Amino acid sequence: MKSIDELTDVAGKRVLIRCDFNVPLKGEEITDDGRIRAALPTLTALRARGAKLVIMAHLGRPEGEANPKYSLAPVAKRLGELLGVPVALAADVVGASAQATVAALADGDVALLENVRFEPGEASKADAEREALAARYAGFGDIFVSDGFGVVHRKQASVYDVAKLLPAYAGYLVEREVTVLKKLTVHPERPYVVVLGGAKVADKLAVIDNLLAVADTLIIGGGMAYTFLKAEGLEVGRSLLDETKIAACAGYLEQAKATGKRILLPVDARVADPADIDFGGRVLNGEVAIVPTTAIPADKEAADIGPETAALYAAEIAAAKTVFWNGPMGISEIAELSAGTKAVAGALAGSAAFSVVGGGDSAAAVRAFGFDEASFGHISTGGGASLEFLEGKTLPGLAVLEEA
Ligand code: 3PG
Repeated sequence: MKSIDELTDVAGKRVLIRCDFNVPLKGEEITDDGRIRAALPTLTALRARGAKLVIMAHLGRPEGEANPKYSLAPVAKRLGELLGVPVALAADVVGASAQATVAALADGDVALLENVRFEPGEASKADAEREALAARYAGFGDIFVSDGFGVVHRKQASVYDVAKLLPAYAGYLVEREVTVLKKLTVHPERPYVVVLGGAKVADKLAVIDNLLAVADTLIIGGGMAYTFLKAEGLEVGRSLLDETKIAACAGYLEQAKATGKRILLPVDARVADPADIDFGGRVLNGEVAIVPTTAIPADKEAADIGPETAALYAAEIAAAKTVFWNGPMGISEIAELSAGTKAVAGALAGSAAFSVVGGGDSAAAVRAFGFDEASFGHISTGGGASLEFLEGKTLPGLAVLEEA
């Protein structure tokens, strides 16, 4: 990958940069700005060299339609505060507002296009649709810099296709992430424990196969645990469940047994009435109970691992030499459902293992709980991206930079 250190002569040039600003929000308030901060070294360096910055980013999954709920307005505001200069937010992605915003840039100025996922072409499976949109993005830049590590596993127009149309470079964040994560793929010290949680159940289940090949033990929490428990024949009440993956989970459990690997599942859980869980407001409006996972009530949702599970998982982490953790154990933004995630974070912080935390939500949880970031080997901005990297998959957004 070409480094932006090579970009010494960018004064007056328009540098189109892909960042991952997919940050957690409570209303319009950003509850963790770690991903924005992580982009600052690249942005600051290019501004200092007199470049005009045109930033592309996404927020959530608006599925090809403009939706004010997913506007990057809070991001533009926060980025401006962190950079100490105003950030001009275009009202659209490639329309009249974007064109005027880019045309008005002076050297060192910063513009942010609206959420690229407002455009149906951005995440289209049809190459021609993505390429057409990428050509419009390319019209906004003389050079392309990829620095959204969290999204390099997506073959999307602003990550992949545009990199083929302009001279393409890796930003400092992408370089640093790749350097650190490589350490986990080349002779990791064993035991190597991977802790998986989080809510993107389908995405996470898809990676287990390959992770079983590299890790010694997989510790499962968060939303995906309940599809595994169902595969073991347990009832999971109203917990998250991917019916289409039950058979696959049963297969993973068999595969683990056959290959001498271990998959650990929750033995107890914190359960609540799903109607009481207010994600947006980050509050629980009712009671929490702790139950064994063999007795999850039919009308309740398991929304955190229980204390016995937390102790078991912490002991496994303490005995490991290498740990990769991706995804909260429960709904960590809600105090009553955060203890499991806090226990895992604490075990990692206290361990002597080489520990890597991946994923926007786990990284945000670590910071929200007040852990010292220095007690972890590395806090990655990538969730799915870091997982796929560890699996040894080719990430389209990195491959395209290597080819450039
Ligand atoms: C993330 O949050 O992991 C990245 O921003 C990618 O988001 P996505 O899973 O919606 O593509």
